[in-house]
Amino acid sequence: MYLGPLCAFSLFFSTISSGFLSVNAFNLVKDYSGNSFFDEWDFYGSWDSLTNGDVNWVDRTNATNKQLAYVNSAGNAILKVDNTTNVPWNEKRDTVRIESQKEYGVGSLWIADIVHMPFGCSVWPALWTKGQNWPDDGEIDIIEGINLASTNQMALHTKPGCMHVSAPADQRGKSGQLDCSVDAGCTVMETAPNSIGAGFNGAGGGVYATQFDASGIFIWFWSRPNIPKSISESTSTSAIANLNDWGPPAASYPSGSNCDIPSYFSEQSIVITITLCGTWAGNPQFYTPQCGSVGPTGKCYDDNVPGNGSNYDNAYFEIKYVRAYTDGTASPSSSGSSSTGTKTGSGPNATGNSGSSNVYKSGFVAPLVGTTIVSLAGLAIIFMF
Ligand SMILES: *[C@@H]1O[C@H](CO)[C@@H](O)[C@H](O)[C@H]1NC(C)=O
Ligand SMILES: *[C@@H]1O[C@H](CO)[C@@H](O)[C@H](O)[C@H]1NC(C)=O
Ligand SMILES: *[C@@H]1O[C@H](CO)[C@@H](O)[C@H](O)[C@H]1NC(C)=O
Ligand SMILES: *[C@@H]1O[C@H](CO)[C@@H](O)[C@H](O)[C@H]1NC(C)=O
Repeated sequence: MYLGPLCAFSLFFSTISSGFLSVNAFNLVKDYSGNSFFDEWDFYGSWDSLTNGDVNWVDRTNATNKQLAYVNSAGNAILKVDNTTNVPWNEKRDTVRIESQKEYGVGSLWIADIVHMPFGCSVWPALWTKGQNWPDDGEIDIIEGINLASTNQMALHTKPGCMHVSAPADQRGKSGQLDCSVDAGCTVMETAPNSIGAGFNGAGGGVYATQFDASGIFIWFWSRPNIPKSISESTSTSAIANLNDWGPPAASYPSGSNCDIPSYFSEQSIVITITLCGTWAGNPQFYTPQCGSVGPTGKCYDDNVPGNGSNYDNAYFEIKYVRAYTDGTASPSSSGSSSTGTKTGSGPNATGNSGSSNVYKSGFVAPLVGTTIVSLAGLAIIFMF
């Protein structure tokens, strides 16, 4: 299918002059939704040994029996913190961590439509992806926030050698750390309103999309009123024809000499977690400014986790769907729905959590400001062969 530079070049211009081609459609490979939402995930089934949170991530049987993971009457998946059990001091509270059995390779696109996100003092939710070995196989943090934070923080985690660039021309969010191998990863803060927490929920939720591509990793967020038609009109079986109406991503991690994405990221599983306190939410440096005054001790565990749990009434995800797509460029072993594997006990050590990206294959993003989408659509074609 290699068309050669000339052909690719002319496609590039025909794209600009005649509108968008749909050759870079993303075909659906997996739809997690409705009554089968929970069928192809592994439940962690142990206390939080990864982020040191004060929770038991229960197995599927307990999650079902205790109504911590279920499908509600609207057909949406609920994943929640136990808010009905009186937990004695010094014990942990039940919640869930699920990890997709399927892994998705380079060339993938993940879209999650979420109605409600967990929040509250001590609460640390995340939606992210990870390879089997951490950090060698990479981690993409798509949604992550703690306590009462109102802004989503995205990040990549890698072995040493992968750097983010400080201000990619197409990136809507604000870069933080640039070294993807440090504890916090290479972070990008969302700048649009209502990306997590009470604001997100108040706006009716929204959609996160992540593109995992050879040309980079890209993460988009839209609050409910701003979801592009290509997504709002998609179904549980349809392809996403193109990303032309997506606008710039919240986080853009272009592949390049700074970081060759395929060298740092292998096939990824999708992970959804909620923990309490732990290495980030419970760290006094982050806990105290937002929540240090909610209880008598000023401590994350003591003031939140024990007791009747009514403080966790908002600590739940309500998810319409998580969908995985492939653009067909993935190698056979990672063709989007590829290898499976039960990945128990794997995972990031410390602060790692979600990650995501969306794409429009932005091989040469920087010089193309202004015509980004058109140009990128052209590049996408070039990159496909
Ligand atoms: C499941 O619940 C039972 C009964 O409460 C408990 O003994 C067991 O430890 C739980 N298992 C997990 C993995 O949470
Ligand atoms: C739960 O405990 C809080 C105080 O920690 C109290 O205000 C609330 O009324 C209790 N709720 C129930 C249902 O017992
Ligand atoms: C617990 O949380 C759910 C939302 O997940 C809420 O509907 C319920 O009223 C809360 N409280 C109790 C006692 O179940
Ligand atoms: C995980 O954390 C432990 C203890 O904090 C540390 O000794 C170990 O090196 C860490 N592993 C990785 C892969 O970072």
